[in-house]
Amino acid sequence: MKNVAVLTSGGDAPGMNAAIRSVIRCGIAKGWTMFGVYNGFAGLITDNIRPMGTRDVGEILHKGGTILGSARCEEFYTDEGRRKGVRALRRVGIDALVVIGGNGPQTGNYELHKLGFPVVGIASTIDNDLPGTEMTIGVDTALNIALEAIDRLKVTASSHQRAFLVEVMGRDCGYLALMSGIAGGAEYIVIPEIETDPEEVAESLRLAYEHGKGHAIIVVAEGAKHNAESLIAYFEEHEDRLGFKIRATILGHVQRGGNPGAFDRILASRFGSGAIEAIAREEYGVLVGLHEGSVMTFLLEEVVGKTKSVSMEMVELARKLD
Ligand code: F6P
Repeated sequence: MKNVAVLTSGGDAPGMNAAIRSVIRCGIAKGWTMFGVYNGFAGLITDNIRPMGTRDVGEILHKGGTILGSARCEEFYTDEGRRKGVRALRRVGIDALVVIGGNGPQTGNYELHKLGFPVVGIASTIDNDLPGTEMTIGVDTALNIALEAIDRLKVTASSHQRAFLVEVMGRDCGYLALMSGIAGGAEYIVIPEIETDPEEVAESLRLAYEHGKGHAIIVVAEGAKHNAESLIAYFEEHEDRLGFKIRATILGHVQRGGNPGAFDRILASRFGSGAIEAIAREEYGVLVGLHEGSVMTFLLEEVVGKTKSVSMEMVELARKLD
């Protein structure tokens, strides 16, 4: 018999609700008592921990966002704040905590682990930047949202013989940009992992124009040294020699708000079950993720504070396809 709590933290990602539902229902299937912590780690500081039953997670599988809420909590960055959180969990009688989120949340989770509290993480962020796991909850849906935007921009770009810079999220990781660029047939992809001279982008546009292309798409990662704003500023002075007129679209948070697709719903359901199984084995201080298609656990200490790099094989592929 265990009392287990779950919280979501950091940027929301489509599929977080599916993960909450899975954690709660798989825990109940074990005969455990389940709790939700509201507003991320802030809910630990404010004692916002409430019991959750099977019906409390009904009708959320298909919804984006997180019913538990997420918040930045300055107090949790301090040792005293985290100790306060552990005291709150112990007061309610919680035996283990599941934290659904990306790099920041898993760092907070690891700090609780270091204080001796039993924790398990679930990899969830649209950035797909957590080392170890091949995929995180939310990235597939975010990718499809970016792709839909690229496809639409291509239509208007063709009508006007324009080039579009499309900036996607991803923090310091180029995964979203690289994959949406490949899937969207971008002429050039700018990612943080590879320093790009704006002149190379200009050259690719000029060549595309000379080859008679009716439009051009450049996908830019927000974390790249030259993001959309910087490239637009550069092109202002050089537009006459590019052929195309340039416009920029920054997709921003629109990538986070969608309803999860089938991949994310299934991944989240598997990760939720994986977290409950890890707790049943009393395997703590770990992150539930994906390795070669199987649900696995990774040590939090080997994951936190690091950013996964993009696959060089995919970078090479992008270069061949542009
Ligand atoms: O980590 C997810 C993410 O959406 C990043 O891609 C982005 O850089 C960041 O969060 C934006 O954070 P906020 O929602 O606090 O503006």
